[in-house]
Amino acid sequence: MIVLGIETSCDETSIGLIEDNRIITNEIFSQKIHSDFGGVVPEIASRAHLQKILPLLKDALNSASIDLKDIDVIAATAGPGLIGALIVGYCFGSGLSLAIDKPFVPVNHIDGHLYSVFLENSEIDFPYIALLVSGGNTALYFIEDFYKTKLLGNTLDDAAGEAFDKVGKLLGLKYPAGAEIEKLANEGDENFYQFPVADVSGKYDFSFSGLKTSVLRFLQKNFPDGIDETSKKNIAASFQKAVIKALIDKTVNAVKEFKVKNVAVVGGVASNKTLQNKLRDELGNDVKLFVPSPKLCTDNGAMIAFAGLKSYQTNYYLQSKITQPFPN
Ligand code: KG4
Repeated sequence: MIVLGIETSCDETSIGLIEDNRIITNEIFSQKIHSDFGGVVPEIASRAHLQKILPLLKDALNSASIDLKDIDVIAATAGPGLIGALIVGYCFGSGLSLAIDKPFVPVNHIDGHLYSVFLENSEIDFPYIALLVSGGNTALYFIEDFYKTKLLGNTLDDAAGEAFDKVGKLLGLKYPAGAEIEKLANEGDENFYQFPVADVSGKYDFSFSGLKTSVLRFLQKNFPDGIDETSKKNIAASFQKAVIKALIDKTVNAVKEFKVKNVAVVGGVASNKTLQNKLRDELGNDVKLFVPSPKLCTDNGAMIAFAGLKSYQTNYYLQSKITQPFPN
């Protein structure tokens, strides 16, 4: 079955084509324009999606040598995300489905991330614990099967990626700053400063806004006139250590409580090699860790196509509340 996946929930315009769990093509256009503003500007994102979506579809069909009539199902992200940005992909996908007379499957963006591991790792087994860490979400899930998931905990404030981006801004880095912080951290001493790891009441919940404020206060107090490169590296490393500790502690606790043998880390922050290595060490040899490649960690159309395929095959989309990009 060939599925077209459309992703426009934030600042990536992406068209993916898959055949079962094989990626045929996964075209991603990351909207760099937002780095001039220090974060995503919703109105600019919607316009950029509009400009890019049709050329991307043409590129995807050409590179895959696939005709529109070969597509069996069209899936598009329906939420959560920026409303104007979502509407572009959703309307494009539903319009196309009418034009070629093929089923349209609205997909929850989070489901796209949660199942993204299957596109490269067919050996992952249910049940698994999924840690979703991106710019917009940080949450832990117990995944029993496709579309049988239980949310264990969520961030109470900022997402982990958002914390990376905001601390990056404080350090004078461009948006998005996660990868650059990791690079600086690799050359810094993670034990140089002790930033706090939030102690939240929910067993599997997270909180990162206090950590971000603590870095801000630290910089205001100790570096009022600007920061030298060595201190920047040490702060990046110490900050990253605090974020990773929170993520790993909760994930390991969930693995123990639910007695799973498989863990997936998904979303943009999952590309962080320090997070991957430390988590692998903590999980030990009995538990398998699956992390998609960086292109599948970031927002992309192939993961939406795969979540759409599973929704179609299980008829989940017929009962799902996610039918359009508006809150219920
Ligand atoms: O899933 P994603 O592409 O989209 C959004 O949810 O927006 O994730 C993007 C986020 C950004 O916050 C970015 O700074 C972060 O992922 N990120 C990283 C790394 N690479 C990307 N954070 C930490 N370490 C990285 N290597």
